[in-house]
Amino acid sequence: MTEPAPASFATDPAIERVLLTEEQLRRRIEELGAQLTEDYVGRAPLLVCVLRGAYVFLTDLARSIDLPVEIDFIAVSSYGATTRTSGVVRLVKDLEVDLTDRDVILVEDIVDTGLTLRYLRRSLEARGSASLEVCALLARESADLEGLGVRYVGFTIPNDFVVGYGLDAGERYRNLRYLAVYDPDADEVG
Ligand code: IMP
Repeated sequence: MTEPAPASFATDPAIERVLLTEEQLRRRIEELGAQLTEDYVGRAPLLVCVLRGAYVFLTDLARSIDLPVEIDFIAVSSYGATTRTSGVVRLVKDLEVDLTDRDVILVEDIVDTGLTLRYLRRSLEARGSASLEVCALLARESADLEGLGVRYVGFTIPNDFVVGYGLDAGERYRNLRYLAVYDPDADEVG
């Protein structure tokens, strides 16, 4: 039988340490928003949020951009309920907006192996957008950002599995206000 979740994130043994504080996230996302505002001046980009991990990032990023942005959502699944990739990416929910002639910015939570991104690029590039760029909150040090064509990155992080600020471990921890390193061995629930 599984144990009930700890009453508070502060006492949760699976939350090993804080990697990025609320303040660090806020500042960097404001910088990214300012950069996008400058780069897309005179245009109305379409922000495509990759669900579910990027939903918190998207809300803060969109509000940091001083342009008339539009929002749409796409959902893919590449991980099961564990911290390991299944190696298979599946489209779970498609976009509703037509991408023809749009300036698309794909908003991702984390670029790890790049498998998800390659899949999304293949799927979106065939839809006639005027441009397609990627803005990821996080990227692993090992990720080939140039090869994957990732133009905007918030933070480069080491190999630890992270949770919070939208990112999950088995669908938990998405509502943490900060980004934390997750210790699966100390998890009393998962
Ligand atoms: P990739 O396809 O290997 O690049 O994996 C990207 C996806 O895996 C992300 O969009 C996340 O949903 C998930 N992922 C990768 N690393 C982590 C992590 O440390 N915490 C939570 N989710 C992760």
